[in-house]
Amino acid sequence: MKICVCVGSSCHLKGSYDIINLMKAALEKYGLTDTVDLSAAFCLGKCTHGVSIKVDDEIVTGLNRDNFDDIFAGSVLAKLGRKPE
Ligand code: FES
Repeated sequence: MKICVCVGSSCHLKGSYDIINLMKAALEKYGLTDTVDLSAAFCLGKCTHGVSIKVDDEIVTGLNRDNFDDIFAGSVLAKLGRKPE
């Protein structure tokens, strides 16, 4: 699985680096650092919707600290057949 976190200027202002840190911590927690290729992108074309990420071919928008766990569960863990702990 490939995950790209947008670090374009709009997403950056809305907290991309928080999301990258949360993503790294979540991948480590679930032992997914070898399964998931995490990288950064410079704009996913959804700038007005908050921090955007791309999970394989799916763009997910509006990530923040409050909804990160739910989005990680639905867009990452569920696709890997894992359940949130
Ligand atoms: S800056 Fe992130 S989608 Fe454009």
